[in-house]
Amino acid sequence: MAIVLALSGSPSRASRTAFLAGHTTAELRARGHQTHVLALRDLPAAPLLAADIHDPSLARAVSRVAEADALVVATPIYKAAYSGLLKTFLDLLPQHAFTGKPVLPLATGGSAAHVLALDYALRPVLTALGAQVCQGRFVLDRHLTTTPDGAMTLDRDAQRQLARVVDQFDLALPSRAHLTAA
Ligand SMILES: Cc1cc2nc3c(=O)[nH]c(=O)nc-3n(C[C@H](O)[C@H](O)[C@H](O)COP(=O)(O)O)c2cc1C
Repeated sequence: MAIVLALSGSPSRASRTAFLAGHTTAELRARGHQTHVLALRDLPAAPLLAADIHDPSLARAVSRVAEADALVVATPIYKAAYSGLLKTFLDLLPQHAFTGKPVLPLATGGSAAHVLALDYALRPVLTALGAQVCQGRFVLDRHLTTTPDGAMTLDRDAQRQLARVVDQFDLALPSRAHLTAA
């Protein structure tokens, strides 16, 4: 069992990316892991923009990254890259914050033309933080729909494709027993 923290990097209140992060953590819990989600939009804006790491909420968020064995990093594609909100948070972290941690990158976007943004934009940033970057997944926003009662759903094919990526990520996760013994 690993402790996995999902960072959700959309500024939107009703966020497809946040839903995807939640769906992914549910898949990981079903595989026996302990999961948490950190919605970056909930962090206080002024300290975040000022990189005030002494702000208690930001300090706690940074600690949660340090405490996690692995991370899911989920972002909407904005202007052919990851969101500015995600980058603002990643810039607060120590240089080697992800060292030794498997990281699963996820993105939602409106155009298949930007599917490679995970590789050309997000992957280098995660690598610079020391991450062991796992195979990620880009999900088109039209595959995340809202039902008349307001609930969001991920279509069946996208669920199956995501489950395969989660299976691979699961193989990269350390077990807590192993970590304790080390
Ligand atoms: C400001 C803005 C810029 C966007 N730029 C792109 C883009 O360059 N490529 C793309 O595929 N989708 C783009 N989109 C679409 C979003 O990535 C997509 O709708 C995503 O699922 C939104 O995620 P969210 O609901 O979590 O905010 C953009 C959306 C917004 C609001």
